[in-house]
Amino acid sequence: MIESTTKQVALALCAVAVATVSMAGQSATPAASAPTFNHEVAPILYKNCTNCHRPGEIAPMSLLTYKDARPWAKSIATQVGKGTMPPWHADPAHGQFLNDRRLSDADKATLVSWASGGAPEGKPGDLPAAPSYDGGWTIGTPDAIFSMNEDYPIPAAGEVPYQYFEIATNLTEDKWVQAFEVKAGDPKTLHHVIVYARPPAASAPGQGTAAGAPAAARQAPPPPLFDFAPNMEIPAGQTGGRPLPPEERKPAFKNQRGPVRIGPAVGGFAPGQFIRVYQEGTAMKLPAGTTLVFQMHYTPYGKPATDRTRIAVKYAKQPPATQLRWASLQNGALHIPPGASDHRVDAEMTLGSDVTLWSMLPHTHVRGKRWTYEAIYPDGKRETILSVPNYDFNWQTDYVFKQPLKLPKGTKLHATAWYDNSIGNRANPDPTKDVWWGDQTWEEMMFTGLTFSIDLVKSSNTAGREER
Ligand code: HEC
Repeated sequence: MIESTTKQVALALCAVAVATVSMAGQSATPAASAPTFNHEVAPILYKNCTNCHRPGEIAPMSLLTYKDARPWAKSIATQVGKGTMPPWHADPAHGQFLNDRRLSDADKATLVSWASGGAPEGKPGDLPAAPSYDGGWTIGTPDAIFSMNEDYPIPAAGEVPYQYFEIATNLTEDKWVQAFEVKAGDPKTLHHVIVYARPPAASAPGQGTAAGAPAAARQAPPPPLFDFAPNMEIPAGQTGGRPLPPEERKPAFKNQRGPVRIGPAVGGFAPGQFIRVYQEGTAMKLPAGTTLVFQMHYTPYGKPATDRTRIAVKYAKQPPATQLRWASLQNGALHIPPGASDHRVDAEMTLGSDVTLWSMLPHTHVRGKRWTYEAIYPDGKRETILSVPNYDFNWQTDYVFKQPLKLPKGTKLHATAWYDNSIGNRANPDPTKDVWWGDQTWEEMMFTGLTFSIDLVKSSNTAGREER
């Protein structure tokens, strides 16, 4: 179905391109009616492409100047025609998203007819000013930049266990994170980083802490990777509908055995996902005295490398009306048999209070192929709130709802992911293996990051009660 939709779009684009060219052929001043880089194309690239396609960013080539873009004209027409660029993987039939990267049909047609019309440069006077990427930060001038304190060496080959780095914020008052951006020291080796905020008074006795803690404390199990919301029930793990024994009904994070005490997540970087700007009036709290803990997953790439990753933060000018929080929905008990080409794994949570859901970030590794999410309301109504029919591990996207979802207490959030562990999956490192939950790319996850807020309780004596 997706295939045919894509083809229809491509065909429609060809028709537009042909029409433009033949009209140009009949016109007295053909050059004037063909789109040029300076007049029509540059504004589209600046708005939709150069955040990734510029020197030092994740895309393989820059599209900032005519000289940069000209050799790629054909390829641009192909990629935007197929809908593979800009990258976007959600099914438009379900939900609308603030960060939807898809081009309008008109913009696609312009790029395609520019390419088929010989990719002309146009008049110098038509070229708009290129966007300025202030010191390389897309979010603008940051209020603070927190950086790893060392260049961490990554070997040329082998497996690097997750590494944890602690960075003191030295904040003397609470701050509210309005936007963040993560920059890898070496994007080629950094598979992902999750930045956790450990509040100052968080080291409860018996819980593992950073280096320097007594050995006994370090061996004690640290708290959950993500702070589950108060009033949110942790899902009972299920695999393919088979209920699990109670002792398995918890997420099985290997890295929870690590020695580092972490707090809730504030930001992350994975391929395709390294910036987040929270909507007006919403922000994530960063308490005074917070220590940031970077969880780093490095993948060696054939040459020795070093990495020093940074996170830039912009603070809200005043405390927001709505405090955003993180939670996760996962099934840590997944098991994918060898060769299975469409293996289904489910996870579900029931909301213990009225909740507003702001975004969802689906995450599997390379065997993941698609996702759907349903809200099952207390009255039994079911609604597909997000569908990612062609999930791509290389593009981790936090889908931010255009209209945040109001989910009443008792609503069930149900996630389903499908995996391809067959030889037909070209990204599959080994179709003969049983696959379980694990940190490394050849293991799997069934994990969704959620950004939510708890709705204010409005009653006669608690009107406008502050969220904690
Ligand atoms: C979110 C980042 C991002 C955005 C936005 C983006 N690209 Fe890309 N683009 C990439 C990356 C990374 C690649 C490398 C291939 C891959 O990973 O899919 C790529 C590859 C390409 C290629 C193929 C290059 C080749 O080697 O053949 C073309 C063409 C392209 N992009 C054009 C565009 C155009 C045109 C836009 C805007 C309309 C755009 N891209 C927006 C990140 C991006």
